Amino acid sequence: MRLNWITSFALLCLLILAGCGKDKDQRDAEVDKFVDDLLRRMTLEEKIGQTVLYTSGYDVITGPTVDPNYKEYLKKGMVGGIFNAVGADYTRSLQKIAVEETRLGIPLIFGYDVIHGQRTIFPIPLAESCSWDLEAMERSARIAASEATAEGINWIYAPMVDISRDPRWGRVAEGAGEDVYLGSLIAAARVKGFQGDNLSAVNTVVACVKHYAAYGATMAGRDYNTVDMSLNELWNTYLPPFKAALDAGCGTIMTSFNDLNGIPATGNKYLLKDILRDKWNFNGFVVTDYTSINEMIPHGYANDEKHSAEIAMNAGVDMDMQGGVYMNHLKTLIEEGKVSEKDVTEAARAILKIKYKLGLFEDPYRYCDANREKTDILTPANKEAARDMARKSMVLLKNDKQTLPLKENKRVALIGPLVKDKYEILGCWSAMGNRDTIPVSVYDGLVEAIGKDKISYAKGCDIQSEDTKGFAEAVRVASASDVVVMVMGEFHNMSGENNSRTNLSLPGVQVDLLKAIKKTGKPVVLVLMNGRPLTINWEKDNLDAILEAWFPGTMGGAAIADVLTGKYNPSGKLTMTFPQNVGQIPLFYNHKNTGRPYDPNVPQFAYGSRYWDVSNEPLYPFGYGLSYTTFTYSDLTLSSKEITKENPLKVSVKLTNSGEYDGEEVVQLYTRDLVGSVTRPVKELKGFKKVFLKAGESKVIDFTLSVNDLRFYNSQLEYVYEPGDFHLFVGGSSDTKLKTEFTLK
Ligand code: BGC
Repeated sequence: MRLNWITSFALLCLLILAGCGKDKDQRDAEVDKFVDDLLRRMTLEEKIGQTVLYTSGYDVITGPTVDPNYKEYLKKGMVGGIFNAVGADYTRSLQKIAVEETRLGIPLIFGYDVIHGQRTIFPIPLAESCSWDLEAMERSARIAASEATAEGINWIYAPMVDISRDPRWGRVAEGAGEDVYLGSLIAAARVKGFQGDNLSAVNTVVACVKHYAAYGATMAGRDYNTVDMSLNELWNTYLPPFKAALDAGCGTIMTSFNDLNGIPATGNKYLLKDILRDKWNFNGFVVTDYTSINEMIPHGYANDEKHSAEIAMNAGVDMDMQGGVYMNHLKTLIEEGKVSEKDVTEAARAILKIKYKLGLFEDPYRYCDANREKTDILTPANKEAARDMARKSMVLLKNDKQTLPLKENKRVALIGPLVKDKYEILGCWSAMGNRDTIPVSVYDGLVEAIGKDKISYAKGCDIQSEDTKGFAEAVRVASASDVVVMVMGEFHNMSGENNSRTNLSLPGVQVDLLKAIKKTGKPVVLVLMNGRPLTINWEKDNLDAILEAWFPGTMGGAAIADVLTGKYNPSGKLTMTFPQNVGQIPLFYNHKNTGRPYDPNVPQFAYGSRYWDVSNEPLYPFGYGLSYTTFTYSDLTLSSKEITKENPLKVSVKLTNSGEYDGEEVVQLYTRDLVGSVTRPVKELKGFKKVFLKAGESKVIDFTLSVNDLRFYNSQLEYVYEPGDFHLFVGGSSDTKLKTEFTLK
């Protein structure tokens, strides 16, 4: 039998070769024909086998442990994919079982969480998003795919596109921040990076956009928690990045752990059929997040595992990750008439089509190349790209009296628990990244940049402990220097999956150490490594400079040195609001107005929407970030005061580099739709450009705004634009005041 599909595949390949320049329809017809033919020869058990995914005991386990029998199932053709198996030889050995020992020899797909790099670890995705550099993010995903495929992987569980407005939720580290417009562009860029133009190329993978849907709105920021939101909010804010990823060709999608309006996402027909298949015409496959099928039992939505399998298949889940319930129950459910065989066939079809597109039927071992494993990972070019991405991702939050860049020939005291760290610096989800010898620490990076003789070091304290014994030594080291650079932050596993926090200040005694060092009177620079916005109020008020470096990855220390010394002028802008305190959360720039907006100019108005103890303002707004130079905006003009379907608006603004360094600025355009058939946000990002200007240079920056940019989902969930008046803002942050107005006719 195996020969049969090999023969038919060979025939198809000949056809493909013969028909160079074929259009997409023809290629799709070929895939369909091949998979049709194969399905006709498959038993029900074999079809069910394709819907089963197991973890190998190799690496990250984020839920119930490995089923020790997975290799036995594999031999019996009861498994369609394996995840967490890494390495050319290891994946080859598993593939060999599937190809040589099962009746039809259908190859496995190999999945892995390559979230920001495989061996060369890039900054965490939240950090990358702060670069606002879509090309760089696409390149980072490209490199991750190329390294992952060199180690046997052909399916990557990324991009994570969950919009989130809650920094308590640790998984904000994996996403692109709070904004739907930017998040959608980044989702598409990452998919393009992972998948390239051709899924069957040896260095591309199929991407898996996750977690569908609304996972980022998990109640109180606690992971896996309930989500209850209006459909209007779902469509306007949480769904668009998924749509953008799928429009970019993303081949697979992962359900989320949460329930949404009472129905777990993994059993949610509205999400998985009505939207995904019927409205969006998705024709890839849907995989659960880990055991989220089984988890419908504690959710209180399924009686037992069999019932959960029935719900999931009927809702539109094609592949069961690690739950074992499709393997154990689908056959009986079909016999009992509770699940249709046709649905199982369609699930198998979707999975087989992706395997075909990956080229696995042509050569099941194409991603198990031990040579590439030696030559294609951690290359100098990959490391250089990671260093560049890291410095682009950093956000300069404060820089009084031009404390940064560090002046030449000054003695620098490097103090803090993360100065010499090579472990936390990679952040959460670091795939096969080395957390020991390979990463460049801040210490090593700065020694390389300015020389050891100018640097003194004290650890001062740990990330989280009450121990202040190191303070005296740190104060001594600081006192003997000209400037102090403190490197502090969170543990890498304070963010990422199931790592939520209710207190967002620097952990342990780090702030106490900052206070002790501040008393020396030396200028103090704080370099932060963390996976989420933090409440750094004291730091903002008292320190001279703050650089948000996030978890910057393998080359992090070198990149931080580039920024501290001015070799690179920071250009990152926040993609998530920093609150003043946890009580303000959720706090985000594109909120709605209240009927009683608080006006600080009329403080006597006691019933304006506000808090007793803190202003409504964030600590740092979305879009904010400084440079070593300054940028000024002027001459905001519109081509017309009216926008119509036929006549888009041309928006121009003059940008001047008014400081002393060459630098880059992210020019941001926001609109406000003043009155709508549903209430509209006070500001919405609608465009941006990252612009390089030499010191003293000016340039006119243009944007085009069309009525389509002003669409939103109304109360009937129709995607409309409505006539009326708009405000338009341009500037270097979401709190820009540079404003004009126009009308949509
Ligand atoms: C996470 C997913 C991940 C999966 C596989 C789950 O626990 O939520 O993001 O892709 O594990 O490792």
